[in-house]
Amino acid sequence: MKVKIKIFRYNPEADKKPHYDSYEIEVDPTDRVLDLLEYVKGNFDGTLAFRRSCAHGICGSDAVRINGRNRLACKTLVNELETDKILVEPILGLPVIKDLIVDMEPFFEHYRSVMPYLVNDEPEPRTERLQSQEQRERFDDTTKCILCACCTTSCPSFWASDKYVGPAAVVTAHRFIFDSRDRAGAERLRILAEEFGVYRCHTIFNCTIACPREIQVTKAIGEVKRAIATGKID
Ligand code: SF4
Ligand code: F3S
Ligand code: FES
Repeated sequence: MKVKIKIFRYNPEADKKPHYDSYEIEVDPTDRVLDLLEYVKGNFDGTLAFRRSCAHGICGSDAVRINGRNRLACKTLVNELETDKILVEPILGLPVIKDLIVDMEPFFEHYRSVMPYLVNDEPEPRTERLQSQEQRERFDDTTKCILCACCTTSCPSFWASDKYVGPAAVVTAHRFIFDSRDRAGAERLRILAEEFGVYRCHTIFNCTIACPREIQVTKAIGEVKRAIATGKID
């Protein structure tokens, strides 16, 4: 089939403002949008800039807006889009470095703010820190995050203020708060109860719709809000 792919282009060092380039290309319906970007770069314009690494939905580096919705380019097939017109733009709310590449540093700053690591200062046990299946299950969903930023950059509260810690950071916090081995849950809840913490979330659900790992992002945020309100981590 033939598709028309329209791609956002912007080089802040050379361009006064962004523009779009369009290409008509012959594709297979089961090609991925990442294949199309590679094709354009290889055959029409080698200066096209986009991130990719694994090409298999694991590294989280190729989040872009495809026909208005945040997705991973490597996990989006042409035939899923149900149209022969494909618009590819950078994710919103982070500064564009070039074309489809955004500066992820503000995103990772929020990530780091919630202490994204296990904290336990108790003396080391003789064997590993045991956990029951139920204890492990409690935070299983939020372990699946690949830090692609599809959620945070689809959230209107984040667009309104990039000081909002954002759903991805809350998902990471959830992963540790509800881990029975961790001892810094109360500290993370204190951080997330601050002005630009979890209460900036107005339950809009864009994050859950956008997540390529199908994490129940809004549910995790709700559980963190409840833990703050009740003072109980359970
Ligand atoms: Fe990406 Fe989902 Fe993690 Fe958000 S929660 S960063 S959408 S994997
Ligand atoms: Fe934003 Fe998701 Fe909350 S879209 S407002 S973080 S439910
Ligand atoms: Fe790694 Fe798409 S290139 S997730």
